[in-house]
Amino acid sequence: MKTYLVTGGAGFIGSNFVLYMLKKYNDVKIVNLDKLTYAGNLENLKDVQENPKHIFVQGDICDKELVTELFDKYDIDYVVNFAAESHVDRSIKEPEIFASTNVLGTVNLLNCAKNAWERENGWKDGVRYHQVSTDEVYGSLGDTGYFMETTPLDPHSPYSSSKAGADFMVKAYFDTFNMPVTITRCSNNYGPYHFPEKLIPLLINNCLNHKDLPVYGDGLNIRDWLYVEDHCKAIDMVVRDGRVGEVYNVGGHNERTNIQIVKTVIKHIHDNVDETVTEDLIKYVEDRKGHDRRYGIAPDKIKEELGWYPETTFEVGIVKTIEWYLENRQWMENVTSGEYQKYYEKMYTV
Ligand code: NAD
Ligand code: DAU
Repeated sequence: MKTYLVTGGAGFIGSNFVLYMLKKYNDVKIVNLDKLTYAGNLENLKDVQENPKHIFVQGDICDKELVTELFDKYDIDYVVNFAAESHVDRSIKEPEIFASTNVLGTVNLLNCAKNAWERENGWKDGVRYHQVSTDEVYGSLGDTGYFMETTPLDPHSPYSSSKAGADFMVKAYFDTFNMPVTITRCSNNYGPYHFPEKLIPLLINNCLNHKDLPVYGDGLNIRDWLYVEDHCKAIDMVVRDGRVGEVYNVGGHNERTNIQIVKTVIKHIHDNVDETVTEDLIKYVEDRKGHDRRYGIAPDKIKEELGWYPETTFEVGIVKTIEWYLENRQWMENVTSGEYQKYYEKMYTV
């Protein structure tokens, strides 16, 4: 039995990872530490509510006493740190919480793991600290080229700068203490349980409610979209088999301009759900400050070393995603009305 401390496991990718791991493995136990900020939603975890291999703890990754207690109580083998403030637009408005959670929270986790795992002559057997990072730490690309693991970090937003700060702290624990760490840097995820402040779920929700579809700037910024389950697979592989001290880029060679994404969502909903949904809903709005133009990942290293590749094409993934939202309208309704926070009382005693 391997015990994971998964942080941020009530958020979008974290909850997908918890569900993926508990479905795939019988010999995995997950301690899920999540502060339940506005982005944490226990409704995402209702399928594992009764599963004794899932232990939910509401708390802050910055809380040294609590994290130390979790290491003492649960004999943690792996830490997978998803917990973060994750939205670029919010980071432009309130950068402090990004520095606090993303940088200081990561340092606290590293330190508590070090205290629990360090031995006189090295490290406890088989342990690993894994940091879930982002391609945004590399900055922005021009029309050609890709981010490689060797690309120098050049973050621009308060969000990406805080994620880069966290990555440097993880590297410092490897360089200074030889702590067994790995980092993955992934491109834009999409799929079930994605909070509707982010582009794709926002578009789906607004289409279904006949609301304007806000497109920042000229709509020609490019993101490299990856289906969330493919990201979960990549993290699982890196935690188990990735080389200690290494960074692995994760991406799908699925580059799209934002306006292409908008038109794809409109077309699917128009053709399959509601023919009154048309491109008339598109509304060009003021650009995001410091808006990165293009992200593109070369996932060659993870493919060559671990055999990972993005299995879900964008064409398949986007239809699966829209269908999920159609089948789970109550989930969206609960999120947009604030009802989801009632799950805090209903589902777990925390
Ligand atoms: P999210 O905002 O959906 O979820 C974040 C989760 O972290 C929430 O459940 C929240 O309650 C929790 N959290 C926030 N602050 C906390 C704290 N101080 N202590 C404990 N829990 C806290 O984010 P996401 O989109 O699922 O992203 C997860 C991770 O993956 C982040 O580290 C993000 O930087 C990274 N990432 C995201 C993407 C993407 O496309 N969404 C791509 C690459 C990397
Ligand atoms: O690249 C990985 C990153 O992807 C993650 O590290 C972040 O946590 C995640 O939030 C995401 O960041 P982005 O800023 O790329 O995602 P977002 O969905 O906010 O925006 C995607 C693109 O769409 C971006 O170019 C801005 C644009 N956009 C976004 C919104 C919300 C719009 O044009 N209109 C919108 O309303």
